Amino acid sequence: MSADDQKRIAGEAAAQLVEAGMVVGLGTGSTAAWFVKALAARKLDIRGVPTSEATANLARELGIPLAALDDVKSIDLTVDGADEVGPGLDLIKGGGAALLREKLVWEASKRCVVIADAAKKVDALGRFPLPIEVVRFGHVHTGHRLADIAAEFDLLPPRLRMADRGIVITDGGNVIYDLPSSVIAEPAALAAALKAVTGVVDHGLFLDLADEALLGTDQGVVKLVP
Ligand code: A5P
Repeated sequence: MSADDQKRIAGEAAAQLVEAGMVVGLGTGSTAAWFVKALAARKLDIRGVPTSEATANLARELGIPLAALDDVKSIDLTVDGADEVGPGLDLIKGGGAALLREKLVWEASKRCVVIADAAKKVDALGRFPLPIEVVRFGHVHTGHRLADIAAEFDLLPPRLRMADRGIVITDGGNVIYDLPSSVIAEPAALAAALKAVTGVVDHGLFLDLADEALLGTDQGVVKLVP
């Protein structure tokens, strides 16, 4: 089965968790897109809270009614992809530059389900470069401070994320620095150190947030719990 088929079956399984009347957090990325499509096909009376402009556009095209995060008291269920699923369902997210809105939506959710293809499961976080969202003002200086922190954790200095058209700008108007691939031995300590830097808005370490994972594998969808 291709990775895309694994993403599709995970997304379809997650769509079955949604019940009429729910407020549903809609994740970002190729796996979350499969979920959004499968959810739309069920034609349930729900409201979706998108985690990015890209997901909002997809959901609108498919006819899913949307609400802004501040228009809902809480979110019943959020389903989202991940770049890595590590021990205890700790995650790296933000490969699609949507980590800030994703984390805000996850933290407002009663239940968070991560969906992924089997290759995303790792024994230790860090194979995927860790995204860090940084405010644009003075971001080069913030990048130097991030390099100091990286050195403390035996990691390589971060790189400003670029695309064909120049610096990547997030939906929130910020830039992304990625810490190059390397095993993150102390995710919680690294998360705290990154958050303490003025200019850092947030990072892609999602620790203790996922309630379950649905992994698409060649043998079908496998459910994991922390
Ligand atoms: C978006 O910023 C990310 O957190 C995505 O959820 C993550 O990159 C997974 O994307 P795919 O489902 O496309 O692999």
